[in-house]
Amino acid sequence: MFVNTKEMLVKAREEHYMVIGAQCWSLNTAQALINTATELNMPLILMLWEGAPEPMADLEVIANFVKVHAGKTHVPIALHLDHAHNIDTIYQAIHAGFSSVMFDGSELPFDENVAATCEVVKMAHACGVTVEAELGHVGGMSGVAAGDDNNSTLTVPEEARKFVELTGVDSLAVSIGTVHGVYAGEPHIDMERLKKIYNEVDVPLVLHGGSGTGIELLQETMQYGISKLNVMTDLMNATSVAVSDGSFLPDLDIYAAVADCVKGYMEPLTKPMLK
Ligand code: 13P
Repeated sequence: MFVNTKEMLVKAREEHYMVIGAQCWSLNTAQALINTATELNMPLILMLWEGAPEPMADLEVIANFVKVHAGKTHVPIALHLDHAHNIDTIYQAIHAGFSSVMFDGSELPFDENVAATCEVVKMAHACGVTVEAELGHVGGMSGVAAGDDNNSTLTVPEEARKFVELTGVDSLAVSIGTVHGVYAGEPHIDMERLKKIYNEVDVPLVLHGGSGTGIELLQETMQYGISKLNVMTDLMNATSVAVSDGSFLPDLDIYAAVADCVKGYMEPLTKPMLK
């Protein structure tokens, strides 16, 4: 079933598990993700980034595709626009019927991030669409080695409370040490900072840069409000490996690689639905 993202995440926060926000970049990968969620009997958020390649660039086409396939399964499936900087793209996603949108003002000064996020919240909530925003900045770039100079800025707990109060966002992406892409060394997660944010903020928290963070650390973060985990690099790397030997049927190999990879996150982190 095609669902609203907010309810999914509020339940995950209350019951201390994570819904995986898995990036899709083709109809094939979207289908593999929906089928895996069905097989595992678990909820899932399909994500699409702003400026994704054809045919995913047409938000209406992908929204209709996901709605049809989500309608055929009993597990909750949401469709989310990831890292949008452009209000026009957000408007298109809302119009196309996405479940949720992320406005990424994480590199703006606090007041500007608040003002722009408020605009998005007003527009999205009027249409029943859930909004994620980011405070602090998770650096690096998906698919690319992040290095030590990954331009992250950690989230300040008191500012997080103020930000949520001022904007009315439904979920908040926080920067606590994860990076987009491949870690240069070991991940250093500031668990004390996360605990403080969890005590200050009552909306579900989102962790970007899931790839390579490690299941044990991730399991610890879900005790402190992390209810959605974004994963992209591991999915893309798994598919590159699967087709690098000159695969005869690359679509099938990509499908299998995506399914296997996302299982590695969903099985230890997401709770199965009651049958
Ligand atoms: P990774 O590419 O590090 O998994 O991060 C994905 C992400 O956070 C997308 O928003």
